[in-house]
Amino acid sequence: SGEATAELVASRVLDVPDFPKPGIMFKDLMPLFADGEAFRATIDAIVSRHQGRFDVVAGIEARGFVIAAAVAYAAGVGVVPVRKAGKLPRKVLAATYALEYGEATLELHADAFTAGQRVLVVDDVLATGGTAAATLGLIERAGGTVTGFSVLMELEFLGARAKLAPREVHALLVVA
Ligand code: PRP
Repeated sequence: SGEATAELVASRVLDVPDFPKPGIMFKDLMPLFADGEAFRATIDAIVSRHQGRFDVVAGIEARGFVIAAAVAYAAGVGVVPVRKAGKLPRKVLAATYALEYGEATLELHADAFTAGQRVLVVDDVLATGGTAAATLGLIERAGGTVTGFSVLMELEFLGARAKLAPREVHALLVVA
């Protein structure tokens, strides 16, 4: 059930204060990735939620790659990386967005999708939503159609949903 999956995620996250910057409470989901049963259950929950509604999975560097590869493999589709600046070898589309301190740039290969290809986007944590908003914008600019966005954990109090509207957000665990 959704409640059991939420409890599973909640039981496998570690709160790390002041990482990567003072004042930030980092949500470390490595214990979930490291637990075979929990990892499989969360991947299965994402796949069944979006079953039949995506042709490819996009993962956001770096923890999103782990989830994207597993979801794509389970669904029998391919995986596309959304990367930090300077990592992709060919022509890219780029999006720069504000962080709590400074800014960051994400890139996507310009030819990553065929026109109208249905894309499921996955990541571990949705915090301010800056990373997700930049990613979804890049995918749309590249001609993909975002048909789903799933995260393991959403920090609801940071207000990312409003930033991503009208796109839907699916979170296995919502932290109020
Ligand atoms: C984390 C997380 C999300 C993003 C969420 O990635 O994995 O991608 O931050 O934050 P936001 O909603 O406020 O934008 P991070 O930048 O730590 O990258 P990493 O996975 O490569 O360490």
